[in-house]
Amino acid sequence: MSKTNSNKPVLWTVLSLALAATILMLGLQPRTSLAEDLVVYKSPTCGCCKKWVKHMRDNGFNVVVHEQYNVTPKKDEYGVPRRLRSCHTAKIGGYVVEGHVPADVVKQLLEEKPAIAGLAVPGMPMGSPGMEGFRKDPYDVISFTSTGKTGIHASR
Ligand code: CU
Ligand code: CU
Repeated sequence: MSKTNSNKPVLWTVLSLALAATILMLGLQPRTSLAEDLVVYKSPTCGCCKKWVKHMRDNGFNVVVHEQYNVTPKKDEYGVPRRLRSCHTAKIGGYVVEGHVPADVVKQLLEEKPAIAGLAVPGMPMGSPGMEGFRKDPYDVISFTSTGKTGIHASR
């Protein structure tokens, strides 16, 4: 038997294992499409923004960060209602994500695709993702439309 022939079963085993692993990995991918980047605009000095970015990355988001000292022009451009504003402003899948919105709420948003412009967690509630501390305050995730209609989207 030649060397090439004796190596063939090993090669096939390796190939089938690689194929099985690939299929398994594809099967384990989350149902939501996180193929798109989460583009975040934040001040370079904002610590809680950095923590929120980590929270999103830890939950599978591919985050692209743009740093600028004044994020207000972005909020104006994206039509974030004044009373819903927080520190950072982000965009994914055509939706605006303002402030410390939890990753699972954003994933659900991308899955359900409601007719809204975006979601916001106004202010910086203690205990929201990126705002972990000595206490956890209840807070609402607010939806808003391009015409300024708002509603409670989720409560935490
Ligand atoms: Cu913040
Ligand atoms: Cu922030």
